[in-house]
Amino acid sequence: MIDDLLLFQRADPEQYSDNTINGLITVNITGHMTHDVLDDGMGVNNPEVLCKAHSEIERNIQQGILLDESNLPKLQYLNCIINETLRLYPVVLLLIPHFSSEECTVGGYNVPSGTMLITNAWAIHRDPKVWVEPGRFMPERFECGEGDKGDGYKFIPFGLGRRSCPSSGLAMRMMGLALGTLIQCFEWKRIGEEQVDMWEGSGITLPKTKPLVVMCEL
Ligand code: HEM
Repeated sequence: MIDDLLLFQRADPEQYSDNTINGLITVNITGHMTHDVLDDGMGVNNPEVLCKAHSEIERNIQQGILLDESNLPKLQYLNCIINETLRLYPVVLLLIPHFSSEECTVGGYNVPSGTMLITNAWAIHRDPKVWVEPGRFMPERFECGEGDKGDGYKFIPFGLGRRSCPSSGLAMRMMGLALGTLIQCFEWKRIGEEQVDMWEGSGITLPKTKPLVVMCEL
């Protein structure tokens, strides 16, 4: 794709500027996964969450200036929204299948060498034994440290260990930028009284059964 875009640039440098190519590649790489998270994280079923995120952005970023990557560390609540979305709607719900390279014990079960292991992150993220009110969308839980790294292996949207997602940092920044900008620039509402249907459809990256339709105001 980069080769083709560079060819187009030679023919039409103005249209295919470095900036445009950079944007297209970034969106292409990160778009698929992060798109599903943003769909779920818009939070239109929880207007108070959106309102809190909006106030945090207003407190930390001068009016009239679009938020950028350097602002993200200050936007802790926005980060909590993304974490809570990844908890309830993990993009890779069964992670990626792994094989045990040697015999081991997992949760008291003996696992022979060469066994395929599939981790159900979706179920772990909603396990009432380890989460308070697991079915509730409550970004604040991440403010109190619930789900932090030291809190066991209960929050694993990017997997764990040496085969975990190498792009978790990039993905978190992309989602922060995209969701933050959407919240900063627009006011989001449901299209009616009815709650947005969050039911999950089938697909590797947990898309919704019904596509998100919302109303936005400048
Ligand atoms: C919200 C965004 C993303 C989520 C939730 C996510 C999640 C995951 C998960 C759960 C795994 C499997 C970990 C395991 O099996 O233990 C994984 C692996 C991987 N991810 Fe991501 N990912 C995201 C974005 C990306 C992006 C943007 C890239 C590339 C630019 C990427 C590249 C990879 C690669 C190369 C692996 C395989 C690592 C290995 O097997 O060693 N991911 N990701």
